[in-house]
Amino acid sequence: MLEAFPAPGVTLTALTPSIGCEIRGWDLREPISAAAADELRALFVERAVLVFRNQTLDREQHKAFARHFGELHTHPSRRDTRGDPHIFKVQADADSTLNNGGVWHSDLSCETNPPLGSALLLHELPDGGGGDTLFSNMCDVFDHLSQPMQNLLRGLSAWHDIRRDLRQYGITPIPGKSYPQAHHPVVVNHPVSQRELLLVNRAFTERLNELESPASDALLEFLFARIAQDVRAQCRVRWEPGTLVLWDNRSTQHNAVWDYFPNARYGERVSIIDPQAPEKFATEVG
Ligand code: SIN
Repeated sequence: MLEAFPAPGVTLTALTPSIGCEIRGWDLREPISAAAADELRALFVERAVLVFRNQTLDREQHKAFARHFGELHTHPSRRDTRGDPHIFKVQADADSTLNNGGVWHSDLSCETNPPLGSALLLHELPDGGGGDTLFSNMCDVFDHLSQPMQNLLRGLSAWHDIRRDLRQYGITPIPGKSYPQAHHPVVVNHPVSQRELLLVNRAFTERLNELESPASDALLEFLFARIAQDVRAQCRVRWEPGTLVLWDNRSTQHNAVWDYFPNARYGERVSIIDPQAPEKFATEVG
């Protein structure tokens, strides 16, 4: 795929054998032909994290690019506020007590139909460096588990709840308020590649439904540790001015490293959904 990509002047470089591709020489402000969009969607599924360098997109161009992959998602925290409902701000500075996404997670797995992908454009990089983002390939993490463990996990489902994430950030959920929550199988097939992948994460996954609490906690803790420690499945993105990163939120997890305090980092994320997502990626809470 990397060699066969047709656009002239565009260079593609794999970040690691498992995951990631850096793309140079492609100005995403330019119209994308139907054929190139097809190639791009295939590359997106194959490499899971696409790192586009030297971009100068405004908000509308950022959203127009994301629409090549699906419909724009509205973040739950933006649903009842003014402003652009499709822009999620990623921000940390000297006044911050937390950074967004600083624990291994896929975006909003607590939703019944989680985003299929996200496109993040950083507008301000920290002085002095840092602020990299780590990504991990959940198909490979699953493949690297033993067969008995894989078989056990195939029979389990999990409860995902945004209140778990809020608590980890020291935010107390408001009693009586409705929050996104969902059941998902622990192992699902990627809807395009059909590869099996692990769908639990430390940010949102509260418990395994079929196990009693101590066993559920222990098995989840084992899986969260595997995700963090399986470095063969990971890549590390170093941001440059004008970098846009698009990730497949079904087959990856990410972790935004907060090593730059008190310096500032600012970006805007557009997430993408497939309203027709296969049932396993759109499970209602029973
Ligand atoms: C996120 O979307 O979780 C944040 C990623 C980042 O800031 O690098």
